[in-house]
Amino acid sequence: MAEHQFRDSYLAANLTFTDDKITYHCPELDDTREIMMSWEQPIMEKMAEVAVAAGDHVLECGFGMGILSTAVQARNPASHTIVECHPEIIVKLKAWAADKPNVIVKEGKWMDLLSESAVRYNAILMDTYVDDDLHAKFRYFCKQKAKNGAKISWWNWSGGTTNDYMKFYWGGVTFTEVSVNPVENSYYNRDTYHVPLKQLTIESGFGIKEGSLIYDSGSSSVDIKYASQPGDRLSCADPSNPSLENKSGAKCKSMKCQGLFTLNTNLISGSSKLPMVVKRNNSWIDVILKDVVVGDILYTLDGEVEVTSKDFDNSETIHIIYEIQSDFNYFVNKVLIRKSITDA
Ligand SMILES: C[S@@+](CC[C@H](N)C(=O)[O-])C[C@H]1O[C@@H](n2cnc3c(N)ncnc32)[C@H](O)[C@@H]1O
Repeated sequence: MAEHQFRDSYLAANLTFTDDKITYHCPELDDTREIMMSWEQPIMEKMAEVAVAAGDHVLECGFGMGILSTAVQARNPASHTIVECHPEIIVKLKAWAADKPNVIVKEGKWMDLLSESAVRYNAILMDTYVDDDLHAKFRYFCKQKAKNGAKISWWNWSGGTTNDYMKFYWGGVTFTEVSVNPVENSYYNRDTYHVPLKQLTIESGFGIKEGSLIYDSGSSSVDIKYASQPGDRLSCADPSNPSLENKSGAKCKSMKCQGLFTLNTNLISGSSKLPMVVKRNNSWIDVILKDVVVGDILYTLDGEVEVTSKDFDNSETIHIIYEIQSDFNYFVNKVLIRKSITDA
């Protein structure tokens, strides 16, 4: 069964609500699956406790039975935005929110909130179900929606304290143990669980400015040299001061290049062979750098940037920017421009 069929059937399904759980019958699996169960209450309360402080602006993704929402409310947030995509659960959410003036209901998927580019939160809580976007885009999303220092927590699939909690690595995650007593179910049956917490520092952009002089180990050069190791790269320590700092170690990769330059006043730089998120023809897709094309929309800390091309003087060498400095799905350093690619 294709994964997406499972997801479509969930959104179209009539759910069964009882006091202690929400379930639905998945026709593709010919099985009944739990979406949320009341035994998870200690987990939800711990999530709210570690991530939410009074006066916070909180974003919660996935309402379910509203257990986490109730725990968040108990911590007196300044605002509490809840995004939910299942039509039957939206009805429950609206009824629950009716007497809570600080609750903002968003109907749809959490990724839809990216269009509200200016809105950021002190806490982001993610507990969704059959969610295609989760592993690919959650980190990227958080970096778009979090205030500096925001606390982020999410459903920990493994329940442990390893990187299995998501299908990507996110450093600096702390875990708080919770004892639980699950009623037998299809997704979690252990008696301890660890609530993950990431406190996010929003990095400021840096890069190499147009017109900067390029030096390699002190000697002037027309070649751009990037260090091969992440974090050990040619960069401009202070974007307002384009004196370059060659932080490279022993091994550098050299690129013939016309120069690094700014796009829409942003700085460019970058490296990653990992997929990144771009919008093309109004759809979100994952592409690796070499497949980014002119017209793609890239998302930066400051909002959207369209990839454009730039003509160069014929005397200059066609350049290859084959690396973009990204943090998995998120651009640290804004955007590259790639007019054409040849071998170096
Ligand atoms: C496990 S339940 C959430 C339980 C909730 N934390 C609680 O305490 O009751 C998952 C919820 O996420 C919703 N959901 C799934 N994918 C979503 C998405 N992409 N955007 C918003 N909500 C989503 C589901 O409809 C469901 O209500």
